[in-house]
Amino acid sequence: MFDLSAYMTEKRSRIDHHLTERLENSPAPTLLTRAMTYSLMAGGKRIRPILCLASAEAVGRGDTGILTAACAIEMIHTYSLIHDDLPAMDDDALRRGKPTCHTAFDEATAILAGDALLTLAFEVLAHTAQSAGIAPDRWLRVIGGVARAAGRSGMIEGQMQDMAAEGNPLDLDRLERMHALKTGALIEVSVFTGALLAGADEWQTDRLGRYARNIGLAFQVCDDLLNVYGDSEQMGKATGTDHERGKATYPALMGLGPSRRLAEDLVHESLKAIEEFDNRSDPLRAIARYTIDRTR
Ligand code: IPE
Ligand code: IPE
Ligand code: MG
Ligand code: MG
Repeated sequence: MFDLSAYMTEKRSRIDHHLTERLENSPAPTLLTRAMTYSLMAGGKRIRPILCLASAEAVGRGDTGILTAACAIEMIHTYSLIHDDLPAMDDDALRRGKPTCHTAFDEATAILAGDALLTLAFEVLAHTAQSAGIAPDRWLRVIGGVARAAGRSGMIEGQMQDMAAEGNPLDLDRLERMHALKTGALIEVSVFTGALLAGADEWQTDRLGRYARNIGLAFQVCDDLLNVYGDSEQMGKATGTDHERGKATYPALMGLGPSRRLAEDLVHESLKAIEEFDNRSDPLRAIARYTIDRTR
């Protein structure tokens, strides 16, 4: 039986080690580096980089270039959380079990730490592209894909829609599109990046894309559910806040039971997408269930 917990612990430790090496390369770090490190190393689940590595393994390969790309995506994710927590956005005080970046430092520093993590991600991707022994055209597709997923056709557009929907309930279609953008896009590109760098063919990329779109939505539906009934201490962030702010969420629109069933259906669909893959995809299968069984 595949042991996901051991798998994730091992991957997290490799990811954390790699991220630390990228950031803490000075004995006297600047305020900017301290703020970046504070948020990046605060104890995130690392689900996106783990998905990237697991996707590469499903295709049959995993090397240092892929680890670097996985870590670049985690930098982008962490930047998005720093900005998401700002007073102008969700105005949250707790993240990853610690005071949010703007609370621990100040707003300007948090904005700039986010900016610097986003740009560092692309610096690292471009730098690795020159050295990792993977065809340059694959790296270019990865860099373009990550930029697209993070930006105005992906996460940022999703965040815009999330803010615009505060107090204005969305219908199901628009809610799904918003979730697919704000959370789904980065999860999908994590899987795509691992697959592409590992040399996936078109059929594999297509199946993994379907897998990723389903777990991406399931992951955010679960985030919405945990905001209703999760344990704040375990999650390391506040709960009940979506309702307070009139956020557009699945539980608000369809209720808890139907949201939970939807999450189950999405996981089922994600597993179907990769049913013809061999046992090297067992980590991906276990992660699919984890996206909705998690308690943090
Ligand atoms: C939180 O993401 C924000 C969402 C997109 C749902 P995670 O739940 O992956 O947060 P960390 O990285 O573990 O802190
Ligand atoms: C965060 O979404 C999504 C991004 C940062 C792109 P939420 O605002 O719903 O997530 P939490 O609950 O603060 O982690
Ligand atoms: Mg938000
Ligand atoms: Mg938020």
